[in-house]
Amino acid sequence: MNIKGSSLTLVLAIFVALLSTKLFTTSSTKTLQTVITYNLNKLHRHHHHNKSKSNVTICEDFPPNFPPPDTNTTSILCVDHKGCCNFTTVQSAVDAVALFSAKRTIIWINTGVYYEKVMIPKTKPNITFQGQGFTSTAIAWNNTANSSGGTFYSASVMVFADNFIAKNISFMNVAPIAKPGDVGAQAVAIRIGGDQAAFWGCGFFSSQDTLHDDRGRHYFRDCFVQGSIDFIFGDARSLFENCQLSSIAAPVPAGQRNINGVVTAQGRASNNESTGYVFLNCTIGGTGRIWLGRAWRPFSRVVFAYTFMPDIIAPEGWNDFNDPTRDQTIFYGEYKCSGPGSNTMMRASYVLMLNDTQASPFINVSYVDGDKWLQPFNA
Ligand SMILES: *[C@@H]1O[C@H](CO)[C@@H](O)[C@H](O)[C@H]1NC(C)=O
Ligand SMILES: *[C@@H]1O[C@H](CO)[C@@H](O)[C@H](O)[C@H]1NC(C)=O
Ligand SMILES: *[C@@H]1O[C@H](CO)[C@@H](O)[C@H](O)[C@H]1NC(C)=O
Ligand SMILES: *[C@@H]1O[C@H](CO)[C@@H](O)[C@H](O)[C@H]1NC(C)=O
Ligand SMILES: *[C@@H]1O[C@H](CO)[C@@H](O)[C@H](O)[C@H]1NC(C)=O
Ligand SMILES: *[C@@H]1O[C@H](CO)[C@@H](O)[C@H](O)[C@H]1NC(C)=O
Ligand SMILES: *[C@@H]1O[C@H](CO)[C@@H](O)[C@H](O)[C@H]1NC(C)=O
Ligand SMILES: *[C@@H]1O[C@H](CO)[C@@H](O)[C@H](O)[C@H]1NC(C)=O
Ligand SMILES: *[C@@H]1O[C@H](CO)[C@@H](O)[C@H](O)[C@H]1NC(C)=O
Ligand SMILES: *[C@@H]1O[C@H](CO)[C@@H](O)[C@H](O)[C@H]1NC(C)=O
Ligand SMILES: *[C@@H]1O[C@H](CO)[C@@H](O)[C@H](O)[C@H]1NC(C)=O
Ligand SMILES: *[C@@H]1O[C@H](CO)[C@@H](O)[C@H](O)[C@H]1NC(C)=O
Repeated sequence: MNIKGSSLTLVLAIFVALLSTKLFTTSSTKTLQTVITYNLNKLHRHHHHNKSKSNVTICEDFPPNFPPPDTNTTSILCVDHKGCCNFTTVQSAVDAVALFSAKRTIIWINTGVYYEKVMIPKTKPNITFQGQGFTSTAIAWNNTANSSGGTFYSASVMVFADNFIAKNISFMNVAPIAKPGDVGAQAVAIRIGGDQAAFWGCGFFSSQDTLHDDRGRHYFRDCFVQGSIDFIFGDARSLFENCQLSSIAAPVPAGQRNINGVVTAQGRASNNESTGYVFLNCTIGGTGRIWLGRAWRPFSRVVFAYTFMPDIIAPEGWNDFNDPTRDQTIFYGEYKCSGPGSNTMMRASYVLMLNDTQASPFINVSYVDGDKWLQPFNA
Protein backbone atom coordinates (compact mmCIF):
# COMPACT_ATOMS: atom_id res chain seq x y z
CA MET A 1 0.00 0.00 0.00
CA ASN A 2 1.33 3.44 -0.76
CA ILE A 3 1.87 5.92 2.01
CA LYS A 4 -1.24 7.89 1.16
CA GLY A 5 -3.57 4.90 1.39
CA SER A 6 -2.09 3.38 4.52
CA SER A 7 -1.63 6.67 6.28
CA LEU A 8 -5.10 7.96 5.63
CA THR A 9 -6.36 4.87 7.44
CA LEU A 10 -4.02 5.70 10.30
CA VAL A 11 -5.06 9.30 10.35
CA LEU A 12 -8.66 8.12 10.61
CA ALA A 13 -7.65 5.74 13.40
CA ILE A 14 -5.94 8.57 15.22
CA PHE A 15 -8.99 10.79 14.97
CA VAL A 16 -11.15 7.92 16.19
CA ALA A 17 -8.74 7.41 19.11
CA LEU A 18 -9.10 11.09 19.78
CA LEU A 19 -12.85 10.65 19.95
CA SER A 20 -12.84 7.63 22.21
CA THR A 21 -10.39 9.10 24.69
CA LYS A 22 -11.74 9.50 28.18
CA LEU A 23 -10.45 13.04 28.04
CA PHE A 24 -13.62 14.69 26.98
CA THR A 25 -16.81 15.27 28.83
CA THR A 26 -19.96 13.99 27.14
CA SER A 27 -21.03 17.39 25.88
CA SER A 28 -17.66 18.42 24.42
CA THR A 29 -17.25 14.94 22.87
CA LYS A 30 -20.44 15.53 20.96
CA THR A 31 -19.26 18.88 19.64
CA LEU A 32 -15.86 17.49 18.73
CA GLN A 33 -17.45 14.51 17.02
CA THR A 34 -19.52 16.81 14.83
CA VAL A 35 -16.46 18.85 13.91
CA ILE A 36 -14.36 15.81 13.12
CA THR A 37 -17.07 14.04 11.13
CA TYR A 38 -17.48 17.19 9.07
CA ASN A 39 -13.77 17.52 8.48
CA LEU A 40 -13.28 13.84 7.65
CA ASN A 41 -16.09 14.02 5.10
CA LYS A 42 -14.35 16.97 3.53
CA LEU A 43 -11.02 15.09 3.49
CA HIS A 44 -12.73 12.05 2.05
CA ARG A 45 -14.33 14.08 -0.72
CA HIS A 46 -11.02 15.69 -1.55
CA HIS A 47 -9.34 12.34 -1.83
CA HIS A 48 -11.85 10.95 -4.27
CA HIS A 49 -12.78 14.09 -6.14
CA ASN A 50 -13.78 13.81 -9.78
CA LYS A 51 -10.45 14.38 -11.50
CA SER A 52 -12.05 15.78 -14.63
CA LYS A 53 -13.82 18.54 -12.71
CA SER A 54 -12.56 21.95 -13.61
CA ASN A 55 -10.25 23.84 -11.29
CA VAL A 56 -12.98 26.43 -10.89
CA THR A 57 -15.02 23.93 -8.88
CA ILE A 58 -12.06 22.49 -6.97
CA CYS A 59 -10.76 25.91 -6.09
CA GLU A 60 -14.10 27.55 -5.34
CA ASP A 61 -13.09 28.15 -1.69
CA PHE A 62 -10.48 30.68 -2.80
CA PRO A 63 -11.57 34.29 -3.01
CA PRO A 64 -10.18 36.19 -6.00
CA ASN A 65 -6.75 37.72 -5.35
CA PHE A 66 -5.83 35.13 -2.74
CA PRO A 67 -3.27 35.30 -1.26
CA PRO A 68 -3.36 39.05 -0.69
CA PRO A 69 -0.31 41.05 -1.74
CA ASP A 70 2.73 41.47 0.52
CA THR A 71 2.86 44.31 3.01
CA ASN A 72 6.03 45.90 4.25
CA THR A 73 5.93 43.69 7.36
CA THR A 74 4.45 40.43 6.07
CA SER A 75 4.65 38.12 3.04
CA ILE A 76 2.03 35.45 2.41
CA LEU A 77 2.64 32.19 0.57
CA CYS A 78 -0.23 29.85 -0.19
CA VAL A 79 -0.10 26.03 -0.15
CA ASP A 80 -2.87 23.83 -1.53
CA HIS A 81 -2.35 20.18 -2.39
CA LYS A 82 -4.80 20.34 -5.30
CA GLY A 83 -2.83 23.07 -7.02
CA CYS A 84 -5.19 25.98 -6.43
CA CYS A 85 -2.43 28.40 -5.44
CA ASN A 86 1.31 28.90 -5.58
CA PHE A 87 2.60 25.77 -3.86
CA THR A 88 1.40 22.17 -3.57
CA THR A 89 3.84 21.19 -0.80
CA VAL A 90 4.76 22.92 2.43
CA GLN A 91 8.49 22.37 1.86
CA SER A 92 8.41 24.11 -1.53
CA ALA A 93 6.90 27.17 0.17
CA VAL A 94 9.57 27.07 2.89
CA ASP A 95 12.22 26.83 0.16
CA ALA A 96 10.82 30.04 -1.40
CA VAL A 97 11.25 32.09 1.80
CA ALA A 98 14.13 34.57 1.67
CA LEU A 99 17.17 33.89 3.89
CA PHE A 100 17.29 35.80 7.20
CA SER A 101 14.12 37.73 6.39
CA ALA A 102 13.23 40.33 9.01
CA LYS A 103 9.69 40.24 7.62
CA ARG A 104 7.34 37.54 8.82
CA THR A 105 6.35 35.04 6.12
CA ILE A 106 2.93 33.47 6.65
CA ILE A 107 2.68 30.12 4.92
CA TRP A 108 -1.08 29.65 4.58
CA ILE A 109 -1.87 25.93 4.29
CA ASN A 110 -5.26 24.78 3.01
CA THR A 111 -7.29 21.90 4.47
CA GLY A 112 -5.80 18.47 3.80
CA VAL A 113 -3.09 16.06 4.88
CA TYR A 114 0.32 16.95 3.42
CA TYR A 115 2.42 13.78 3.22
CA GLU A 116 5.95 15.11 3.33
CA LYS A 117 8.94 15.57 5.60
CA VAL A 118 9.47 19.28 6.19
CA MET A 119 12.58 21.10 7.40
CA ILE A 120 12.96 24.79 8.28
CA PRO A 121 16.68 25.57 8.42
CA LYS A 122 18.30 27.94 10.94
CA THR A 123 18.64 30.53 8.13
CA LYS A 124 14.84 31.06 7.86
CA PRO A 125 13.51 32.77 10.98
CA ASN A 126 10.06 34.41 11.23
CA ILE A 127 7.93 31.78 9.48
CA THR A 128 4.29 31.12 10.41
CA PHE A 129 2.39 27.96 9.41
CA GLN A 130 -1.32 28.87 9.32
CA GLY A 131 -3.64 25.85 8.94
CA GLN A 132 -7.44 25.64 8.90
CA GLY A 133 -7.86 23.75 12.20
CA PHE A 134 -5.92 20.92 13.84
CA THR A 135 -8.53 18.31 12.87
CA SER A 136 -8.52 19.31 9.19
CA THR A 137 -4.98 20.38 8.25
CA ALA A 138 -1.95 18.20 8.96
CA ILE A 139 1.61 17.52 7.92
CA ALA A 140 2.41 13.81 8.23
CA TRP A 141 5.35 11.51 7.57
CA ASN A 142 6.38 8.09 8.90
CA ASN A 143 10.11 7.98 9.74
CA THR A 144 11.17 6.03 12.83
CA ALA A 145 14.45 6.01 14.76
CA ASN A 146 15.34 2.91 12.70
CA SER A 147 14.42 4.37 9.33
CA SER A 148 16.10 7.77 9.83
CA GLY A 149 19.33 7.07 11.71
CA GLY A 150 18.04 7.89 15.21
CA THR A 151 15.10 9.37 17.10
CA PHE A 152 16.39 12.94 16.65
CA TYR A 153 16.13 12.60 12.85
CA SER A 154 12.73 10.91 12.72
CA ALA A 155 10.56 14.04 12.96
CA SER A 156 7.97 14.70 10.25
CA VAL A 157 8.65 18.43 10.71
CA MET A 158 11.96 19.86 11.93
CA VAL A 159 12.22 23.51 12.93
CA PHE A 160 15.74 24.84 13.48
CA ALA A 161 14.88 28.50 12.89
CA ASP A 162 13.94 31.08 15.55
CA ASN A 163 10.60 32.91 15.81
CA PHE A 164 8.54 30.09 14.32
CA ILE A 165 4.75 30.21 14.81
CA ALA A 166 2.16 27.53 14.04
CA LYS A 167 -1.59 28.03 14.19
CA ASN A 168 -4.46 25.56 13.76
CA ILE A 169 -2.48 22.71 12.22
CA SER A 170 -1.44 19.19 13.22
CA PHE A 171 1.96 17.54 13.09
CA MET A 172 1.79 13.76 12.76
CA ASN A 173 4.09 10.81 12.60
CA VAL A 174 2.07 7.93 11.13
CA ALA A 175 4.67 5.16 11.56
CA PRO A 176 3.36 1.98 13.25
CA ILE A 177 2.46 2.58 16.90
CA ALA A 178 5.43 1.78 19.16
CA LYS A 179 4.81 -0.83 21.87
CA PRO A 180 6.76 -0.92 25.15
CA GLY A 181 9.99 -2.83 24.54
CA ASP A 182 10.08 -2.14 20.79
CA VAL A 183 13.53 -1.14 19.55
CA GLY A 184 13.92 1.70 17.05
CA ALA A 185 10.18 2.45 16.82
CA GLN A 186 10.40 5.98 18.23
CA ALA A 187 8.63 8.32 15.81
CA VAL A 188 8.79 12.07 16.38
CA ALA A 189 6.03 14.27 14.91
CA ILE A 190 7.92 17.57 15.30
CA ARG A 191 11.34 18.65 16.55
CA ILE A 192 11.50 22.24 17.75
CA GLY A 193 15.09 23.45 17.97
CA GLY A 194 14.63 27.20 17.44
CA ASP A 195 14.15 29.88 20.10
CA GLN A 196 10.91 31.86 20.66
CA ALA A 197 8.42 29.48 19.04
CA ALA A 198 4.66 29.63 19.60
CA PHE A 199 1.95 27.05 18.86
CA TRP A 200 -1.73 27.95 18.95
CA GLY A 201 -4.53 25.42 18.51
CA CYS A 202 -2.13 22.76 17.19
CA GLY A 203 -2.18 18.96 17.31
CA PHE A 204 0.78 16.61 17.80
CA PHE A 205 0.14 12.93 17.01
CA SER A 206 2.34 9.85 17.39
CA SER A 207 3.04 7.24 20.05
CA GLN A 208 6.60 7.12 21.47
CA ASP A 209 8.47 10.50 21.50
CA THR A 210 5.76 12.56 19.75
CA LEU A 211 6.91 16.08 20.59
CA HIS A 212 10.67 16.66 20.57
CA ASP A 213 10.65 19.91 22.50
CA ASP A 214 14.38 20.19 21.95
CA ARG A 215 15.84 23.65 22.61
CA GLY A 216 14.80 27.27 23.11
CA ARG A 217 11.87 29.05 24.72
CA HIS A 218 8.46 27.83 23.51
CA TYR A 219 4.81 28.56 24.18
CA PHE A 220 1.90 26.17 23.47
CA ARG A 221 -1.72 27.18 23.89
CA ASP A 222 -4.95 25.22 23.25
CA CYS A 223 -2.91 22.33 21.84
CA PHE A 224 -3.56 18.58 21.74
CA VAL A 225 -0.64 16.19 22.29
CA GLN A 226 -1.10 12.45 21.79
CA GLY A 227 1.51 9.81 22.66
CA SER A 228 2.54 6.90 24.83
CA ILE A 229 6.14 6.79 26.10
CA ASP A 230 8.04 10.06 26.81
CA PHE A 231 5.67 11.84 24.50
CA ILE A 232 6.97 15.31 25.32
CA PHE A 233 10.76 15.22 25.60
CA GLY A 234 13.85 17.37 25.17
CA ASP A 235 15.66 20.26 26.82
CA ALA A 236 13.56 23.30 25.94
CA ARG A 237 12.04 25.84 28.34
CA SER A 238 8.32 25.60 27.58
CA LEU A 239 4.94 26.65 28.87
CA PHE A 240 1.89 24.58 27.88
CA GLU A 241 -1.30 26.46 28.62
CA ASN A 242 -4.87 25.05 28.28
CA CYS A 243 -3.54 21.96 26.49
CA GLN A 244 -4.86 18.40 26.34
CA LEU A 245 -2.39 15.57 26.85
CA SER A 246 -3.74 12.24 25.63
CA SER A 247 -2.11 8.92 26.45
CA ILE A 248 -2.60 6.06 23.95
CA ALA A 249 -0.72 3.51 26.08
CA ALA A 250 -2.68 0.24 26.17
CA PRO A 251 -5.38 0.07 28.86
CA VAL A 252 -4.08 -1.65 32.02
CA PRO A 253 -6.59 -3.87 33.88
CA ALA A 254 -7.47 -2.75 37.40
CA GLY A 255 -5.10 -4.24 39.96
CA GLN A 256 -2.18 -4.56 37.53
CA ARG A 257 0.74 -2.33 38.47
CA ASN A 258 2.92 -2.18 35.36
CA ILE A 259 3.75 1.23 33.87
CA ASN A 260 3.36 1.54 30.09
CA GLY A 261 3.60 5.26 29.38
CA VAL A 262 5.18 8.55 30.44
CA VAL A 263 4.07 12.07 29.61
CA THR A 264 7.44 13.88 29.86
CA ALA A 265 11.15 13.11 29.67
CA GLN A 266 12.64 16.54 30.27
CA GLY A 267 16.38 16.64 29.57
CA ARG A 268 17.86 19.38 31.79
CA ALA A 269 21.42 18.17 32.23
CA SER A 270 22.96 20.65 34.67
CA ASN A 271 22.09 23.16 37.36
CA ASN A 272 23.08 26.08 35.12
CA GLU A 273 20.43 25.37 32.46
CA SER A 274 17.24 27.43 32.67
CA THR A 275 15.11 24.77 30.95
CA GLY A 276 12.03 22.85 32.06
CA TYR A 277 8.41 22.18 31.13
CA VAL A 278 5.41 23.80 32.76
CA PHE A 279 1.81 22.63 32.26
CA LEU A 280 -0.73 25.22 33.27
CA ASN A 281 -4.49 24.57 33.25
CA CYS A 282 -4.02 21.44 31.14
CA THR A 283 -6.01 18.19 31.06
CA ILE A 284 -4.54 14.70 30.96
CA GLY A 285 -6.68 11.96 29.42
CA GLY A 286 -6.59 8.65 27.60
CA THR A 287 -5.53 5.17 28.63
CA GLY A 288 -2.69 3.19 30.26
CA ARG A 289 -0.96 3.40 33.62
CA ILE A 290 1.53 6.20 33.28
CA TRP A 291 3.95 8.59 34.98
CA LEU A 292 3.89 12.37 34.69
CA GLY A 293 7.60 12.38 34.00
CA ARG A 294 10.88 10.54 34.26
CA ALA A 295 14.36 11.97 34.69
CA TRP A 296 15.97 11.55 31.29
CA ARG A 297 18.84 13.78 32.56
CA PRO A 298 19.85 14.38 36.22
CA PHE A 299 18.41 17.93 36.54
CA SER A 300 15.12 17.22 34.79
CA ARG A 301 12.55 19.93 35.67
CA VAL A 302 8.76 19.74 35.21
CA VAL A 303 5.85 21.50 36.93
CA PHE A 304 2.14 20.68 36.63
CA ALA A 305 -0.18 23.46 37.87
CA TYR A 306 -3.99 23.66 37.84
CA THR A 307 -4.01 20.48 35.76
CA PHE A 308 -6.62 17.71 35.74
CA MET A 309 -5.14 14.23 36.26
CA PRO A 310 -7.31 11.12 35.79
CA ASP A 311 -6.72 7.75 37.49
CA ILE A 312 -4.33 6.60 34.73
CA ILE A 313 -1.56 8.44 36.62
CA ALA A 314 0.23 5.90 38.87
CA PRO A 315 0.12 6.92 42.56
CA GLU A 316 3.91 7.52 42.79
CA GLY A 317 3.50 9.98 39.90
CA TRP A 318 7.09 10.22 38.72
CA ASN A 319 10.27 8.21 38.15
CA ASP A 320 13.97 9.05 38.69
CA PHE A 321 15.07 6.88 35.72
CA ASN A 322 15.87 4.22 38.30
CA ASP A 323 18.85 6.31 39.46
CA PRO A 324 18.39 7.38 43.12
CA THR A 325 21.28 9.86 42.85
CA ARG A 326 18.95 11.96 40.66
CA ASP A 327 16.51 12.37 43.56
CA GLN A 328 18.80 15.15 44.86
CA THR A 329 18.83 17.13 41.60
CA ILE A 330 15.52 16.69 39.78
CA PHE A 331 12.78 19.31 40.21
CA TYR A 332 9.31 17.81 39.91
CA GLY A 333 6.58 20.08 41.25
CA GLU A 334 2.81 19.97 41.49
CA TYR A 335 0.55 22.90 42.33
CA LYS A 336 -3.24 23.00 42.72
CA CYS A 337 -3.95 20.07 40.41
CA SER A 338 -7.22 18.14 40.44
CA GLY A 339 -8.69 14.75 39.59
CA PRO A 340 -8.11 11.26 41.00
CA GLY A 341 -4.55 11.10 39.61
CA SER A 342 -3.51 14.23 41.51
CA ASN A 343 -3.68 12.58 44.95
CA THR A 344 -0.27 13.25 46.48
CA MET A 345 -0.42 10.75 49.38
CA MET A 346 1.70 8.12 47.60
CA ARG A 347 3.97 10.41 45.56
CA ALA A 348 7.70 9.66 45.28
CA SER A 349 9.71 11.30 48.10
CA TYR A 350 11.44 13.88 45.87
CA VAL A 351 8.21 15.35 44.47
CA LEU A 352 7.61 18.95 45.59
CA MET A 353 4.16 20.16 46.57
CA LEU A 354 4.78 23.79 45.67
CA ASN A 355 3.49 26.63 47.81
CA ASP A 356 2.36 29.93 46.24
CA THR A 357 5.84 31.49 46.42
CA GLN A 358 7.54 28.48 44.89
CA ALA A 359 4.95 28.18 42.13
CA SER A 360 4.93 31.87 41.12
CA PRO A 361 7.94 31.80 38.70
CA PHE A 362 6.27 29.04 36.68
CA ILE A 363 2.64 30.00 36.23
CA ASN A 364 2.58 32.76 33.61
CA VAL A 365 4.27 33.58 30.28
CA SER A 366 7.20 35.23 32.04
CA TYR A 367 8.51 31.70 32.59
CA VAL A 368 9.46 31.62 28.88
CA ASP A 369 10.15 35.40 28.75
CA GLY A 370 6.93 35.62 26.76
CA ASP A 371 6.41 39.20 27.95
CA LYS A 372 9.47 40.06 25.78
CA TRP A 373 8.63 38.21 22.55
CA LEU A 374 5.25 36.45 22.49
CA GLN A 375 2.71 38.10 20.17
CA PRO A 376 -1.04 37.62 20.74
CA PHE A 377 -2.80 35.01 18.54
CA ASN A 378 -4.30 37.65 16.23
CA ALA A 379 -1.24 39.90 15.94
C1 LIG B 1 6.55 4.47 5.53
O1 LIG B 1 5.61 4.31 4.49
C2 LIG B 1 6.18 3.71 3.34
C3 LIG B 1 5.13 3.72 2.24
O2 LIG B 1 3.92 3.19 2.72
C4 LIG B 1 6.64 2.30 3.66
O3 LIG B 1 7.24 1.72 2.53
C5 LIG B 1 7.66 2.38 4.79
O4 LIG B 1 8.01 1.09 5.20
C6 LIG B 1 7.08 3.12 5.99
N1 LIG B 1 8.15 3.31 6.97
C7 LIG B 1 8.01 2.96 8.23
C8 LIG B 1 9.19 3.18 9.10
O5 LIG B 1 6.99 2.49 8.68
C1 LIG C 1 -16.94 13.84 -13.57
O1 LIG C 1 -17.17 15.18 -14.06
C2 LIG C 1 -17.43 15.25 -15.46
C3 LIG C 1 -17.49 16.70 -15.89
O2 LIG C 1 -18.13 17.50 -14.92
C4 LIG C 1 -18.76 14.49 -15.74
O3 LIG C 1 -19.03 14.51 -17.12
C5 LIG C 1 -18.61 13.05 -15.27
O4 LIG C 1 -19.83 12.36 -15.42
C6 LIG C 1 -18.19 13.00 -13.81
N1 LIG C 1 -17.93 11.63 -13.42
C7 LIG C 1 -18.37 11.12 -12.30
C8 LIG C 1 -18.02 9.69 -12.02
O5 LIG C 1 -19.01 11.77 -11.48
C1 LIG D 1 4.85 50.40 5.94
O1 LIG D 1 3.73 50.83 5.20
C2 LIG D 1 2.94 51.77 5.88
C3 LIG D 1 1.68 52.03 5.08
O2 LIG D 1 1.92 51.83 3.71
C4 LIG D 1 3.76 53.04 6.13
O3 LIG D 1 2.97 53.96 6.85
C5 LIG D 1 4.98 52.68 6.94
O4 LIG D 1 5.82 53.81 7.10
C6 LIG D 1 5.77 51.56 6.26
N1 LIG D 1 6.84 51.14 7.15
C7 LIG D 1 8.09 50.94 6.70
C8 LIG D 1 9.07 50.46 7.75
O5 LIG D 1 8.42 51.10 5.55
C1 LIG E 1 -5.56 23.06 -12.53
O1 LIG E 1 -4.49 23.81 -11.96
C2 LIG E 1 -3.24 23.15 -12.01
C3 LIG E 1 -2.22 23.99 -11.24
O2 LIG E 1 -2.33 25.36 -11.58
C4 LIG E 1 -2.84 22.95 -13.46
O3 LIG E 1 -1.62 22.26 -13.54
C5 LIG E 1 -3.92 22.13 -14.16
O4 LIG E 1 -3.62 21.98 -15.51
C6 LIG E 1 -5.29 22.76 -13.99
N1 LIG E 1 -6.32 21.87 -14.51
C7 LIG E 1 -7.35 22.30 -15.23
C8 LIG E 1 -8.32 21.26 -15.66
O5 LIG E 1 -7.48 23.46 -15.53
C1 LIG F 1 1.83 33.34 -6.44
O1 LIG F 1 0.82 33.39 -7.43
C2 LIG F 1 0.44 34.70 -7.79
C3 LIG F 1 -0.77 34.62 -8.72
O2 LIG F 1 -0.63 33.57 -9.60
C4 LIG F 1 1.63 35.39 -8.43
O3 LIG F 1 1.29 36.72 -8.76
C5 LIG F 1 2.78 35.41 -7.41
O4 LIG F 1 3.93 35.96 -8.01
C6 LIG F 1 3.10 34.02 -6.94
N1 LIG F 1 4.06 34.09 -5.83
C7 LIG F 1 5.08 33.25 -5.71
C8 LIG F 1 5.96 33.46 -4.52
O5 LIG F 1 5.29 32.35 -6.49
C1 LIG G 1 12.79 38.05 12.66
O1 LIG G 1 13.83 37.29 13.19
C2 LIG G 1 14.81 38.03 13.89
C3 LIG G 1 15.89 37.05 14.34
O2 LIG G 1 15.35 35.85 14.80
C4 LIG G 1 14.15 38.78 15.04
O3 LIG G 1 15.12 39.59 15.69
C5 LIG G 1 13.04 39.65 14.51
O4 LIG G 1 12.35 40.28 15.57
C6 LIG G 1 12.05 38.83 13.71
N1 LIG G 1 11.03 39.65 13.10
C7 LIG G 1 9.73 39.32 13.15
C8 LIG G 1 8.83 40.22 12.37
O5 LIG G 1 9.31 38.37 13.76
C1 LIG H 1 -7.39 28.31 15.92
O1 LIG H 1 -6.62 28.44 17.11
C2 LIG H 1 -7.18 29.35 18.03
C3 LIG H 1 -6.18 29.56 19.16
O2 LIG H 1 -5.86 28.38 19.79
C4 LIG H 1 -8.54 28.84 18.49
O3 LIG H 1 -9.11 29.75 19.38
C5 LIG H 1 -9.42 28.66 17.27
O4 LIG H 1 -10.63 28.06 17.69
C6 LIG H 1 -8.77 27.79 16.22
N1 LIG H 1 -9.56 27.79 15.01
C7 LIG H 1 -9.83 26.66 14.31
C8 LIG H 1 -10.62 26.82 13.07
O5 LIG H 1 -9.42 25.58 14.65
C1 LIG I 1 14.94 -1.66 14.36
O1 LIG I 1 16.15 -2.29 13.96
C2 LIG I 1 16.58 -3.32 14.86
C3 LIG I 1 17.96 -3.79 14.42
O2 LIG I 1 17.95 -4.04 13.05
C4 LIG I 1 15.53 -4.43 14.87
O3 LIG I 1 15.92 -5.42 15.80
C5 LIG I 1 14.20 -3.85 15.30
O4 LIG I 1 13.19 -4.83 15.24
C6 LIG I 1 13.79 -2.68 14.40
N1 LIG I 1 12.60 -2.04 14.95
C7 LIG I 1 11.50 -1.82 14.26
C8 LIG I 1 10.38 -1.16 14.99
O5 LIG I 1 11.36 -2.13 13.09
C1 LIG J 1 -8.50 26.50 31.25
O1 LIG J 1 -8.64 25.73 30.06
C2 LIG J 1 -9.96 25.61 29.62
C3 LIG J 1 -10.02 24.70 28.39
O2 LIG J 1 -8.89 24.03 28.15
C4 LIG J 1 -10.52 26.96 29.28
O3 LIG J 1 -11.87 26.84 28.88
C5 LIG J 1 -10.41 27.87 30.49
O4 LIG J 1 -10.80 29.17 30.13
C6 LIG J 1 -8.99 27.91 30.99
N1 LIG J 1 -8.88 28.69 32.21
C7 LIG J 1 -8.09 29.74 32.32
C8 LIG J 1 -8.07 30.41 33.64
O5 LIG J 1 -7.37 30.12 31.38
C1 LIG K 1 27.10 24.19 32.94
O1 LIG K 1 27.41 23.00 33.66
C2 LIG K 1 28.02 22.01 32.86
C3 LIG K 1 28.14 20.75 33.68
O2 LIG K 1 28.49 21.03 35.01
C4 LIG K 1 29.37 22.53 32.36
O3 LIG K 1 29.97 21.56 31.54
C5 LIG K 1 29.13 23.80 31.57
O4 LIG K 1 30.37 24.37 31.18
C6 LIG K 1 28.36 24.82 32.38
N1 LIG K 1 28.02 25.94 31.53
C7 LIG K 1 28.05 27.18 31.94
C8 LIG K 1 27.64 28.22 30.95
O5 LIG K 1 28.39 27.50 33.07
C1 LIG L 1 7.28 28.13 50.55
O1 LIG L 1 8.27 27.13 50.66
C2 LIG L 1 9.59 27.65 50.81
C3 LIG L 1 10.56 26.47 50.68
O2 LIG L 1 10.17 25.42 51.52
C4 LIG L 1 9.68 28.37 52.14
O3 LIG L 1 10.98 28.90 52.28
C5 LIG L 1 8.66 29.49 52.15
O4 LIG L 1 8.64 30.10 53.43
C6 LIG L 1 7.28 28.97 51.83
N1 LIG L 1 6.40 30.09 51.61
C7 LIG L 1 5.14 30.13 52.03
C8 LIG L 1 4.37 31.36 51.70
O5 LIG L 1 4.65 29.21 52.64
C1 LIG M 1 4.40 36.48 36.21
O1 LIG M 1 4.52 36.17 37.59
C2 LIG M 1 5.67 36.75 38.20
C3 LIG M 1 5.76 36.21 39.62
O2 LIG M 1 4.53 36.38 40.28
C4 LIG M 1 5.56 38.27 38.14
O3 LIG M 1 6.72 38.85 38.70
C5 LIG M 1 5.43 38.70 36.69
O4 LIG M 1 5.21 40.07 36.60
C6 LIG M 1 4.26 37.96 35.99
N1 LIG M 1 4.34 38.25 34.55
C7 LIG M 1 3.26 38.53 33.83
C8 LIG M 1 3.49 38.76 32.36
O5 LIG M 1 2.15 38.59 34.31
